[in-house]
Amino acid sequence: MRTVICPGSFDPVTNGHLDIIGRAAHIFDKVIVAVSRNPVKQPLFTIQERVDILKGVLAGYPNVEVDSFSGLTVNYAVERKAQAIMKGLRVISDFENEFRMALTNKKLVCEVETVFLMTKAELSFISSSAVKEVASYGGCVRELVPPLVEQKLKEKFKDYRVFEEG
Ligand code: PNS
Repeated sequence: MRTVICPGSFDPVTNGHLDIIGRAAHIFDKVIVAVSRNPVKQPLFTIQERVDILKGVLAGYPNVEVDSFSGLTVNYAVERKAQAIMKGLRVISDFENEFRMALTNKKLVCEVETVFLMTKAELSFISSSAVKEVASYGGCVRELVPPLVEQKLKEKFKDYRVFEEG
């Protein structure tokens, strides 16, 4: 059984994340999408909201599980008996940070590999922070996130946004 962890903040999950998770589900027997409980970041959505949203949008994938974790991703990978950590690369600027994390993780636990997938070109500009910024000003995020996330963003920003309809 080959298991991979797809870790992230997922605040919120975007179509870019879903592309990587879907492709990971083709390669590995089991994918664990793991929401990091980072005490430093100030998220828009709570951990429970992010987990629930991910469970909702990934319900059609029988070999994908959604969970949350605290601490180091690599320790969580060992705990879950995963062979690898999957990360998506969008742009060259992602590389430096991901390279640093992959080498640090390898130093910590050499049995766990980090595997990278290049994002689809048409999704390469999408980030959770850009999605939140657009949504906070009432911009349309329909092509950037799944419908459930668009709905949840509308609820979060309902006090001062005017979303495009139709
Ligand atoms: O979606 P994000 O915010 O880019 O995800 C980053 C995440 C959560 C994958 C990364 O920060 C992480 O693995 N955090 C857990 C702590 C850890 O293992 N840090 C890396 C040590 S080099």
